[in-house]
Amino acid sequence: MHSPINDLTGRLLKKFPGIPLENARAQAEELWATPAFRISSVWLLSGKRSTNRINPYAMEFFSGGIMRRLGIRAVDEQFVCSAEQARELSDDYIVKFDRQAQGQNLTWNPGAVPLGWCLASKLVPHAATLDYVTRKILKNCTDNKVEARDKYYVAFNPTPDEIERIEKSMNIDGPAYLRVCTAHFFLACRCTPHFGNILTTKHGELISIDHVHAYFESGESLQRLFDFIDRHSELFNILGGVASLTEGDIRAAVDEIPKHTVCGQTAELREYFCQRLRLWKQLYAFKSKNLTVNLPQF
Ligand SMILES: Nc1ncnc2c1ncn2[C@@H]1O[C@H](COP(=O)(O)OP(=O)(O)O)[C@@H](O)[C@H]1O
Ligand SMILES: [Mg+2]
Repeated sequence: MHSPINDLTGRLLKKFPGIPLENARAQAEELWATPAFRISSVWLLSGKRSTNRINPYAMEFFSGGIMRRLGIRAVDEQFVCSAEQARELSDDYIVKFDRQAQGQNLTWNPGAVPLGWCLASKLVPHAATLDYVTRKILKNCTDNKVEARDKYYVAFNPTPDEIERIEKSMNIDGPAYLRVCTAHFFLACRCTPHFGNILTTKHGELISIDHVHAYFESGESLQRLFDFIDRHSELFNILGGVASLTEGDIRAAVDEIPKHTVCGQTAELREYFCQRLRLWKQLYAFKSKNLTVNLPQF
């Protein structure tokens, strides 16, 4: 398999001028050995990135539907509401909106007054972000900054046994985290999900949140993903989990998007993900049989 280690070495040399070539190469090889890095390097090493954004409101609901069909938990209660309604919501809801009121870049802006159409998510009870677990429970970070969101998780006090289970799930080379990463990739959400975008329960069940940043992309990134993943790896089997989705699953998840003007027309989204799934299935089948076939792009 072609390995982009040379590209990575070049990038490291550029980023840290002065480090010896062999150190840069050793670091590139170390990174390349981690499965999660293989996924994120698809974006890292891609020259041209799509700027054609998928409707973020529709995307959040659609993603929840796909996650659930893949056996990954997502937020149960989410809805679109007006800024006025958002201002009335209790502290049990996270409200996201576009600060420019253009309905594009939906983010959580604690302290800012909601504008335009908002996306509200009910706080998942008895769960905390992996970021919180890292900083406040495992205390793995020297950076002990206080985050506004920490107040939501103060009651999250797992026992030592539970902490062990959580650590297993949040291992970035373990199957639980990689399943979430792979699902994000299929959903064309930019980047591997960072620890602020995954919650865990005390039992170590991961919950995927924040799927609003997704783009219509060519099939090139899928082709590259399958080029990067070894056929006999655990990660390849995880890619197979997505390949077991059906176009019926895509259509059903699209049908679950609320019929709200802000979610826009869903026909393009449905067609895009049906095509993406077809290509994913083909790439998975070809690679399973060790065939290298150049597939048409869409
Ligand atoms: N349903 C939820 N339950 C618990 N915490 C949540 C939930 N939704 C969001 N959060 C918290 O709010 C933060 C911001 O939400 P997120 O959807 O990631 O928006 P953004 O990254 O744009 O700020 C998350 O990192 C997480 O701490
Ligand atoms: Mg986020």
